[in-house]
Amino acid sequence: MTDSDDHGFARGLTNYGDRDFSLYLRKSFASSMGYSREMLAKKIVGIAYTPSGFNNCHRHFPEMLDAVKRGVLAAGALPVEFPTISLGEVFLNPTSLKFRNLMAMDTEEMIRAQPMDAVVLMGGCDKTVPAQLMGAASADLPAIQLVAGPMMTSRYGEERLGACTDCRRFWAKYRANEIDAEQIGNIEMRLATTAGTCAVMGTASTMACIAEALGMSLPGTAAIPAVHADRLRASEASGAAAVRLIESKLKPSDIITRASVENALRILLALGGSTNAIIHLAAIAGRRGIDIPLSWLNELSDTTPVLVNLKPVGANYMEDFFFAGGLGAVLRELKPLLNLDCMTVTGETLGQRLATDEGPVDRKVIATAAEPLEPEGGLVALFGSLAPRGAILKRSAADKTLFEKEGRAVVFTSLEDLAARIDDPELDVTADDFLVLQNAGPTSPSGMPEAGYLPIPKKLSSKGLKDMVRISDARMSGTAFGTIILHIAPEAAAGGPLALVRNGDRIRLSVKNRRIDLLVDEAELATRRAATPLAQRDPATLRGYDKLYAEQVLQADEGCDFAFMKPVRNG
Ligand code: FES
Repeated sequence: MTDSDDHGFARGLTNYGDRDFSLYLRKSFASSMGYSREMLAKKIVGIAYTPSGFNNCHRHFPEMLDAVKRGVLAAGALPVEFPTISLGEVFLNPTSLKFRNLMAMDTEEMIRAQPMDAVVLMGGCDKTVPAQLMGAASADLPAIQLVAGPMMTSRYGEERLGACTDCRRFWAKYRANEIDAEQIGNIEMRLATTAGTCAVMGTASTMACIAEALGMSLPGTAAIPAVHADRLRASEASGAAAVRLIESKLKPSDIITRASVENALRILLALGGSTNAIIHLAAIAGRRGIDIPLSWLNELSDTTPVLVNLKPVGANYMEDFFFAGGLGAVLRELKPLLNLDCMTVTGETLGQRLATDEGPVDRKVIATAAEPLEPEGGLVALFGSLAPRGAILKRSAADKTLFEKEGRAVVFTSLEDLAARIDDPELDVTADDFLVLQNAGPTSPSGMPEAGYLPIPKKLSSKGLKDMVRISDARMSGTAFGTIILHIAPEAAAGGPLALVRNGDRIRLSVKNRRIDLLVDEAELATRRAATPLAQRDPATLRGYDKLYAEQVLQADEGCDFAFMKPVRNG
């Protein structure tokens, strides 16, 4: 054992007060796993491995893991997988976002504490990729993101089905009595039929594209379907690339920069991507000390066209996006707007990647910048007396006839109140009203669920109404659509003005002016504020992760990370 034993199993020794003893003990225990001396001496690529019986999206990970290991071994290092928690979107209560930061902490600490020289991050389902990128950004060891890839679509009669925009579309039809219980039961069994993440440009697909746009994934890998042989080749190549990262010493801090975050924001806007992604990107960038003010999002949105015709905004699915040219085709269209000097995990800059043509493009799915689907980006931030620190509208998925409108507030004070009254035949609501949901933000008891897609009241949906203005401090699934204003900050439970809205108040929306205003005078608001307790849980009644979350979670505009996970600024 020498001082040159600074890699592989010799890294970060367990402290027994005798370094040589620590190494001797570790190698003897490692050899109990059947490794030869040759293998014990190699550099190690750790593989953050996240299959789970509660995560359908990752059910093909064993096959992908074999391919990653093949790539690592062939490139001359030793692959060692390790588990972290996994977050299956629909299996977590109250909502998966609450556990994203826990997974990020798990990932960061296990990368740092265990002996590895680089790490492959295997994620996919909504919160897993942001959690892994947050953890890797903080640990700052050479890292590469490998995503699960999207599910393939399915069929019901003549209809093509893809989770989960079609889940919502058919549920709305069921609520409107257009299909019956037997039909919705049959559809339920056909919506999600293969391994992989949701088949549309929802949060998982948006984050996969953002990881590639940031430079943290191999080029061309974001959209490969989960069950396609290319997914296994991408896995093998990611393993090999991780070995090269050990030599190049490129770390997340070299790759996740203000310039690459701007590229990722451009991609989010051009995709008409998930509203959740702005929260996740703020959290990832925040780990490197980069803030994303929502005014920056608006500046970029004004000059970034929507290019991708995918559900929930458009007509196609992720498999179509892959065969149409994938993210590379979008990046090439946006090239004049991108920061091309940004470094990527391959050791090439983005500009070097885009210097070579990546093949034919199907223009029915990916438009040119000269003839975009929309001239401006898919997301826009709104500010005003109802949202002093901002709110988000996915304008590409909204009804433009509702963009300049004043309406009467119909208020629900909690998710429970919403569930109890939304379908009440006596509910005083018309198509011109604005539905308002309070106390569904990050510090509320509900933990900021994807409940911002408030259902259209049955008395209106049964008459054919498909959209109305809906306002909340909640989030919305990336697979959803409608004129839905989300992420209001500060949230109601933290004392934001959203908590002061009452039935019958007037609210004015102006997307043109980027405004959302509560038309109630300040004296009245002050009276209401004094009489409105914060809808937060009493910290004295909380323990464990619940308590940590309640005390530390930041607002939506700061990415809902924990305050204490931000980088420490010295001096
Ligand atoms: Fe995993 Fe949609 S449920 S990505």
